[in-house]
Amino acid sequence: MTTDPNQLLHLALRIVDELVPTLVSARNAGGLAVHTKTSGTDMVTEMDRWCEERIIEMILSDRPTDGFLGEEGGRREGTSPVVWIIDPIDGTTNYLYDVPGYSVSIAAEIHGEVTVGVVADPVRREVHSAIRGRGASRNGMPIRCSNKADPATALVGTGFGYQPERRVEQARVLTGVIGRVRDIRRMGGAALDLCAVAGGRLDAYYESGLNPWDIAAGGLIALEAGARVTDLDGQPSWTDTVVCAAAPLHDSFRQLLVTAHS
Ligand code: IPD
Ligand code: CA
Ligand code: CA
Repeated sequence: MTTDPNQLLHLALRIVDELVPTLVSARNAGGLAVHTKTSGTDMVTEMDRWCEERIIEMILSDRPTDGFLGEEGGRREGTSPVVWIIDPIDGTTNYLYDVPGYSVSIAAEIHGEVTVGVVADPVRREVHSAIRGRGASRNGMPIRCSNKADPATALVGTGFGYQPERRVEQARVLTGVIGRVRDIRRMGGAALDLCAVAGGRLDAYYESGLNPWDIAAGGLIALEAGARVTDLDGQPSWTDTVVCAAAPLHDSFRQLLVTAHS
């Protein structure tokens, strides 16, 4: 089975092309069945589950030996070097309320390294994508992050988790940030926030408590657009706390966050 990143990208693009129209029409039809998961605010709709099942079906019909890790429970080790990391709807709250800022996020790891990422935004009709080492694009056009260097003039995105205690802590950290930057946006979902940094629509984004499926595709897209994507210690780890910023801004912004966390 090939591990050519171009072919993996092509498959991911084919999948989002097929799913996005159904996602939008189901939303517009209304009456979606909704359940809660880890807390009363952590929602999952019937479309999150449908979308993940369909993504996995389409992957397996082309590539039956690949592994996958999906937010809604699709897990399999596989026997090929490729593992797909799937957030079928990132930004479910936005999706449910018809607020822009939800996406389908699909990444492919090869031998444990995220190598391909696709994030499709049905509302703006934009598909962000990247292959490691080959740059990032939006609707086929190359994108670059901003060249901002000063946190005081940085537009910063963040997000909040679903556990009340975590949110209170995130609000505390935010009070240490908001007076030191241009302004804050809470747009969501995480995948599109990372793509916003990639395309210069935000100068930086940070959030704690994220999962691999929130970060994998958008993180690669931001990285390939020239951003730095690290944890709070500046290590290139893509779980839990993510600090993503234009390269000249990253160090000073991360320091600001470290202080806000203390
Ligand atoms: C959430 C979104 C949101 C972020 C949360 C995530 P979900 O993912 O990305 O913007 O702030 O931390 O859990 O639940 O909508 O897939
Ligand atoms: Ca998510
Ligand atoms: Ca999700």
